[in-house]
Amino acid sequence: MTASEEAHAGYGLSKRITTMPRSNIHMMSALAREVEDPVSLSWARPFSGTPEHINEAAREAIAKGLVSGYSPGLGLPELREAIAEKLKRDNGIEAHADEVMVTVGAIEGITAALAAVIDPGDEVLFPSPNYSTHTEEVRLLSGIPKFVPTIEEEGFRLDVDAFRKAVTERTRAIVFCSPSNPTGAVYAEEDLRALGELALERDLMIITDEAYEYFVFDGFKHFSIASVPEFRNNVVSVFTFTKTYAMTGWRVGYLHARADLIGQINKAHNCCAICAPVVSQYAALEALTGSQDCVREFHEKYLRMRNRVCERLDGLSQHFSYQRPKGSYCIFPRILHPEGKDSLAFCMRMLKEALGFGPTGEEHLRITFCGAEDDIDRAFDRIGEWLG
Ligand SMILES: Cc1ncc(COP(=O)(O)O)c(C=O)c1O
Repeated sequence: MTASEEAHAGYGLSKRITTMPRSNIHMMSALAREVEDPVSLSWARPFSGTPEHINEAAREAIAKGLVSGYSPGLGLPELREAIAEKLKRDNGIEAHADEVMVTVGAIEGITAALAAVIDPGDEVLFPSPNYSTHTEEVRLLSGIPKFVPTIEEEGFRLDVDAFRKAVTERTRAIVFCSPSNPTGAVYAEEDLRALGELALERDLMIITDEAYEYFVFDGFKHFSIASVPEFRNNVVSVFTFTKTYAMTGWRVGYLHARADLIGQINKAHNCCAICAPVVSQYAALEALTGSQDCVREFHEKYLRMRNRVCERLDGLSQHFSYQRPKGSYCIFPRILHPEGKDSLAFCMRMLKEALGFGPTGEEHLRITFCGAEDDIDRAFDRIGEWLG
């Protein structure tokens, strides 16, 4: 808590908000602003601009006067149709347009889904290390996040037996992202099927975050758990345009769930957003139906950058060990070097960022590889020099 927050705690502020930790990534960015010429490998945000054909579709929608009102709460019908087609084609999910809701990015989709699924005091399980925003969403809804460690030596693999042991009478849901931010793990189909069986046995909802679905490397495959017909009633699958099409600021994503659940999730969506930004929905329609060359280009770029980060980490093997990311654009090396010379501030910065990813995230550093390609070498040259 900042001094000002502390002074005001109890003066009309909820405990829910005042006890919510500040994002370590935001804090790191603030610290970085005090440094001359910083190199940032910390934001999981594509630096490539949005492809021009998508921008053009938005301009056209504006010129035609299509964007100044609300769309239907669930999204433009033609976009929901296109999403249902994509879910069938690329995810193997037998989707119908009335099982689709367009959201304000994946983040709002997950919050709305959680609001439909959990009551105050309910527990939600996360494989750890995890993406911290998801746990804050649970806390915002007065739920209780519980962390189930992944198996780091096996590439941060899901430990389904540990999940089984972690389920209690209060457990209502499991939330995970695969490909994973921060670890780069891509959960195996067999483990996801075992998790699906557990959800059926214990009547749990699974909420997936599939933001990085197209960024998978080395022949590994992204598997959407809702593609298994027996599981689909227990799954809310969340996707976004942010990563696939470099559309971070457009704030548009979507989710798939069974039709009756969509009606319930829409109640929360209505309270938070009414509808996703309409101009962004027209851009999203073009993204889905236009050329997919940009997705292939982004994939090639992230693969090149993943390889370069790994090479540079190999050169620092006395200081870091790591699991080679199978997907996403994040890597989560373990820091072997306990303190690092005298430069306490730098080490603190590394550790503070690592602490934002759940209890299993300690002693790790998250590095992203979605920025400018030569930033990787600039950053590692400095780290290498500093570490001696
Ligand atoms: C796993 C994951 N989910 C969701 C998001 C944000 O998605 P959106 O911009 O669609 O809300 C991020 C962004 O870093 C992410 O890493």
